[in-house]
Amino acid sequence: MACRSKSELNEFVKEARTYAKYGKVADYIPALGKANANDLSIAIRYPDGECISAGDVEKKMTLQSISKVITLALVLMDRGPEEVFKYVGMEPTGDPFNSIAKLEETTPAKPLNPMINAGALVVTHLIKGGSADNRFERLLPFVQTLANNPAISVNEEIARSEFETSNLNRALCYFLKHHRVINEDIEELMDLYTRQCAIEVSSLELARIGLVFALDGVDPESGKQIIPEDIARLCKTFMVTCGMYNASGEFAIKIGIPAKSGVSGGIMGSVPEKFGIGIFGPALDDKGNSIAGIKLLEMLSERYHLSMF
Ligand code: DON
Repeated sequence: MACRSKSELNEFVKEARTYAKYGKVADYIPALGKANANDLSIAIRYPDGECISAGDVEKKMTLQSISKVITLALVLMDRGPEEVFKYVGMEPTGDPFNSIAKLEETTPAKPLNPMINAGALVVTHLIKGGSADNRFERLLPFVQTLANNPAISVNEEIARSEFETSNLNRALCYFLKHHRVINEDIEELMDLYTRQCAIEVSSLELARIGLVFALDGVDPESGKQIIPEDIARLCKTFMVTCGMYNASGEFAIKIGIPAKSGVSGGIMGSVPEKFGIGIFGPALDDKGNSIAGIKLLEMLSERYHLSMF
């Protein structure tokens, strides 16, 4: 798909890239540590097929936590909100994405929202299909449809690297298994979750997925409703309240659009009814969000009055 390089966007990227030096590439998943901290790209995709970009928008990143919005949509389609929200809550935590702290404070045990790791692990557990392989065979085509690219696949090296080192996520899972929120073999769930997080997309494809959410679940090319409107809106609401973890409040004030970050350095943005944004900038701030990516969104939001508030 052709995407027009736009000079104003190039200027913003150049300026935002100067902030990358204040961030750090994630390395708690060892294979992510190989990323180039200076990379920064952005694609913006509009409903009529128009696309503008700056930087290397073909370069691949893994979805990481951005996948949590997609699995949430799938599970809500599978089971409906009433069942899903028996197992996971709707409230922001103000804690880091991998925090275990608040899990012990709710009785019965229930992760506060589906965007933190504890909540996302429950959501992945709830994907219908039985075995990890069967569930993954439902999830991957869903991502391919959202991104409109049947070739999207998993970065096996990053999936394996996370699988081998996910001690904290295993701890969250065992806590939740003890409390009967998760009822499956934890290694099986970790296998599925780490493959989910290692699905690889480019900024262009990320912007395409963001656009579907911006359009309340409608595929911009076919006009088909690929996510029911109420579910797409619910996912976008979580992006606003919890999408940037314990930086979501500041992000809402300074930028004001639904967005979801991942530790690979991706940010997916959905400007309601207008366009989808895909950003890749692997240097992260101390909350695990792309430091240059957020700067870039700040500049764009100010310049184009993107805030929905
Ligand atoms: O579970 C993890 O820790 C990673 N696979 C995903 C975390 C993540 O992307 C947090 N985002 N900023």
